[in-house]
Amino acid sequence: MPKITRIIAREILDSRAVPTVEVSVLTDSGVFGTASVPSGASTGKAEDVELRDNDPARFNGKGVLKAVGNVNTVLGPALLGHDVSDQEGIDQLMLNLDGTPNESRLGSNAILAVSIASLKAAASAANVPLFSYINTRYHPHTPPKIPGPVFNLINGGKHGAGNLDFQEFHVIPSTKMSYHDALRAGTETWTNLKTELIRRNAVHSVGDEGGFAPNLFTNADALEILALVIKNSSYRLGQELFLGLDVAADEFFVSNKYPIKDSPRPLSREELIALYVDLVKTYGLLSLEDPLAQEDWEGWQQLVAALPDTTMIVGDDLVSTNAKRLQKAIDQKSCTAVIVKPNQTGTITETIELMKVAEANHINTIVSHRSGETNDTFIADFAVGMSSSYAKFGAPDRGERVAKYNRLLEIEQYLAQES
Ligand code: PGA
Ligand code: ZN
Repeated sequence: MPKITRIIAREILDSRAVPTVEVSVLTDSGVFGTASVPSGASTGKAEDVELRDNDPARFNGKGVLKAVGNVNTVLGPALLGHDVSDQEGIDQLMLNLDGTPNESRLGSNAILAVSIASLKAAASAANVPLFSYINTRYHPHTPPKIPGPVFNLINGGKHGAGNLDFQEFHVIPSTKMSYHDALRAGTETWTNLKTELIRRNAVHSVGDEGGFAPNLFTNADALEILALVIKNSSYRLGQELFLGLDVAADEFFVSNKYPIKDSPRPLSREELIALYVDLVKTYGLLSLEDPLAQEDWEGWQQLVAALPDTTMIVGDDLVSTNAKRLQKAIDQKSCTAVIVKPNQTGTITETIELMKVAEANHINTIVSHRSGETNDTFIADFAVGMSSSYAKFGAPDRGERVAKYNRLLEIEQYLAQES
């Protein structure tokens, strides 16, 4: 297998005009891999730490020259001559060099970019598509599978215009649909939603993840308008298309209460759970992500018990792509599905470890982008190779989201030709 001859990092921009890290891993056989990493806005407390320069003179302190420097002067030299296909060895060596529990010394942004670029270089060296390489090496017992897309069509919380508390309002096609039909259904719904917002004279500009950021009165209004748009289309709500939420509840949790527009006074945990029970009854929600504060394990447990098992209770901030936290959530019955974001944990090896825990416990996985993204399509290949149940790449607009949805179209065609 080819050996690493050089690792080069650079500072590039993400979709929010914020710097991020891109890395190229070069090998002695001439093949190479290039990867860039995303960045979240509603980050979990247990996530690994992305290193920022905090130099107010550059990019308002958001520069990543320190992380880039750590790749060029620490990680790169240490990995010279390393077998590029030894992913576990590469990742472990980087974790050892960092030496902290949360990658805060060298930066999870530096470490993950090297981890993914190495994997891409190894796939190129093996002369197979990336998803296929991932599948053969890390998920050989199940063939590659296109995940069900989760479209984020309305953006609130930290990704929107500030008037919706809940962060994401999802439209999720039935997994019985082919991927290209599912993509069409999500896209047509996005377009129909835009038409309806224009008809109502509502704001129809988009938020960070490409969903609309309308000026609605309550969070329930956003679900209502989505339900209406679907009912007025050729798709059947509850059969072909489902609704879901990423509440990102930590972002508005204050003084042990949840102040939201749907209520004149802040809600207690129990009152919010009662609201979710109502919303599930009315809209048959297929998934409910981060519905409660991330350290309220007991509240999550109560919610799982209160809702039918047709609604996935999805741990994002709760788990932070951490295998130990997922095991705790499973043991306590606090969630029934999990978000997978490689940059929450910093290496591909740790991400795969988390997915193995999920699979062993029949927990659905949702491979996810971040709100600050690049055009890197790695997570599309990763979701297919690992046979993830779902993938969440935002709305079907904005280049950095579309690149990933389009990559799934390419893989779908490839798989159809093979069979
Ligand atoms: P983030 O949001 O990337 O801003 O953290 C995405 C999510 O919460 O799923
Ligand atoms: Zn989330």
